[in-house]
Amino acid sequence: MLLNKIEEVREQIKTWRKEGFTTGLVPTMGALHAGHLSLIKRAKQECDKVVVSVFVNPIQFGPSEDFDKYPRTLEADTKLCEQEGVDIVFAPTPAEMYGEGNRLTNDTLTYVCPPFFYVNKLCGKTRIGHFDGVCTVVNKLFNIVQPDKAFFGQKDAQQAVIIRKMVKDLNIPVEVIQCPIIREESGLALSSRNKYLSEEGKKDALVLSRILNNIKNCYKKGITDVSALKETAYPFLTEKHDLEYLEILDRETLEEKEKADNNTIVLIACRVENVRLIDNVYLEDK
Ligand code: PAJ
Repeated sequence: MLLNKIEEVREQIKTWRKEGFTTGLVPTMGALHAGHLSLIKRAKQECDKVVVSVFVNPIQFGPSEDFDKYPRTLEADTKLCEQEGVDIVFAPTPAEMYGEGNRLTNDTLTYVCPPFFYVNKLCGKTRIGHFDGVCTVVNKLFNIVQPDKAFFGQKDAQQAVIIRKMVKDLNIPVEVIQCPIIREESGLALSSRNKYLSEEGKKDALVLSRILNNIKNCYKKGITDVSALKETAYPFLTEKHDLEYLEILDRETLEEKEKADNNTIVLIACRVENVRLIDNVYLEDK
């Protein structure tokens, strides 16, 4: 069922609680693809009832980012959710979430701000305030749905680390489950933003996963020096690639290290046709 109002969701959840059902939450911004569906399928396996939120969250977009043109496909999203057996699609308006006519700045709105150490790197370096917006909305969704488990993708690895940290620091009673990255056969990680790419752009975008796989292979062959591993990326890059970052960090804490080990993640952000794409890989699958 499609619900737009916070109170309606609360009512439904209350009834489920009384009946002893467990609830899973999959937060999304819609434009659902197989990556999102993998989270939904996992939630269905692990919980009695599943809520999918579809909300393009204005406060996690910077002023020059794609909030206005972000794909909005609620009808198709609702259909996909129905097919997957989702119990509630929660699609509030910004006014429902943040109040009518409220200025969405931190002089009028309570924000949940993750620690500087976690945001002062990777995507947080260029997307100022982005993770404040993410943590604030995810915290609101947790309070509205009060799920037993919440499902996030490794695709947004920094986001997943930051949300786990928020849950731990604020003692939020939810279990965060991370799901693997779903890719096209070509290796391209699925993303709602892939829609902005031309066919040629999609081919150029394969460089992200190629760089990551190559680094993983080099590690498997015994190269552990982080700067040597980073160096291997450059032959892949052409004038069509605007590399924003390539980082090799601890996968739990996002700390820098000189030597890669089995607890290491490699993360990349690169613009292709001016579309900002991100991807990552764990050096050791566990
Ligand atoms: P969105 O980009 O819609 O992603 C929703 C969830 O789907 C995230 O947890 C993301 O990591 C996961 N996801 C996206 N692409 C994936 C892929 N190829 N494989 C596996 N999982 C994938 O992330 C957000 O929305 C927002 O920041 C949100 C958490 C909803 C807060 O507004």
